[in-house]
Amino acid sequence: MSLLKVNNIHKHLSGKHILKWVSFEVQQWEMYGFLWPNGAGKTTTMKSILWFITPEEWDVELFGKSGISIETKKRIWFMPENTYLYKHLTGEEFLRFHAGFFGMTGEQATKKVDALLEKVWLSEAKKKYLKEYSKGMLQRVWLAQAMINDPELLFLDEPMSGLDPIGRKMVKDLLVELNKKWTTIFFNTHILADVESICDKISIIHQGKIIVQNKKLTDISGSLEDFFIEHVQSH
Ligand SMILES: Nc1ncnc2c1ncn2[C@@H]1O[C@H](COP(=O)(O)OP(=O)(O)OP(=O)(O)O)[C@@H](O)[C@H]1O
Ligand SMILES: [Mg+2]
Repeated sequence: MSLLKVNNIHKHLSGKHILKWVSFEVQQWEMYGFLWPNGAGKTTTMKSILWFITPEEWDVELFGKSGISIETKKRIWFMPENTYLYKHLTGEEFLRFHAGFFGMTGEQATKKVDALLEKVWLSEAKKKYLKEYSKGMLQRVWLAQAMINDPELLFLDEPMSGLDPIGRKMVKDLLVELNKKWTTIFFNTHILADVESICDKISIIHQGKIIVQNKKLTDISGSLEDFFIEHVQSH
């Protein structure tokens, strides 16, 4: 079953042609990687799908329906690339604030927030202000907020970037666990090792164009690095 079908997204920004008829498809239960070079258009694609920016052309189906209704929004969630955090909040307060977006208050919110903090190994830091968190801790608290509504489809923009090897492993393990349980994951990255270790399928965007579409990793013979470089260089 297709959870996300991008039939066409077309976008200019400041007079520049950023996305050129982008299309790809994510099936239920997949761990789907969206690659590759810096400036290729990954973040713009994600923001366009979610309608945070307005493309000139937008033909997207989520859960088999065209458009993004309030009902659809309850079934998805998002973690941005640049995390704009309220640094004067504690980890616990930050997550409670986000729980409020989904109507959770009181005991229900407390339970949810405590469970999430435990899941991302931040229980002991829950009373600390976000300004005191390390980069890895901030990334994990953002991941926790992205799980607050138990999304069926999760959009993550560079979830492992800037983390040390231990932090990356923690985040990857968490994504694999989420994916096994319930959540289809679509994430932007340019870290090949992460793609190799956890993705089922990928698309590659280069200069705003999809140059590899819905490719199963098991169908790639040889090194992933060679495959990417060969495709990027030939376009
Ligand atoms: N607001 C904007 N105005 C003009 N150009 C923009 C704007 N936002 C992004 N761009 C340009 O759009 C292109 C795609 O940017 P985007 O951030 O989507 O790439 P990306 O693949 O996410 O890159 P990265 O790996 O560095 O995160 C880049 O050339 C960028 O300079
Ligand atoms: Mg980006």
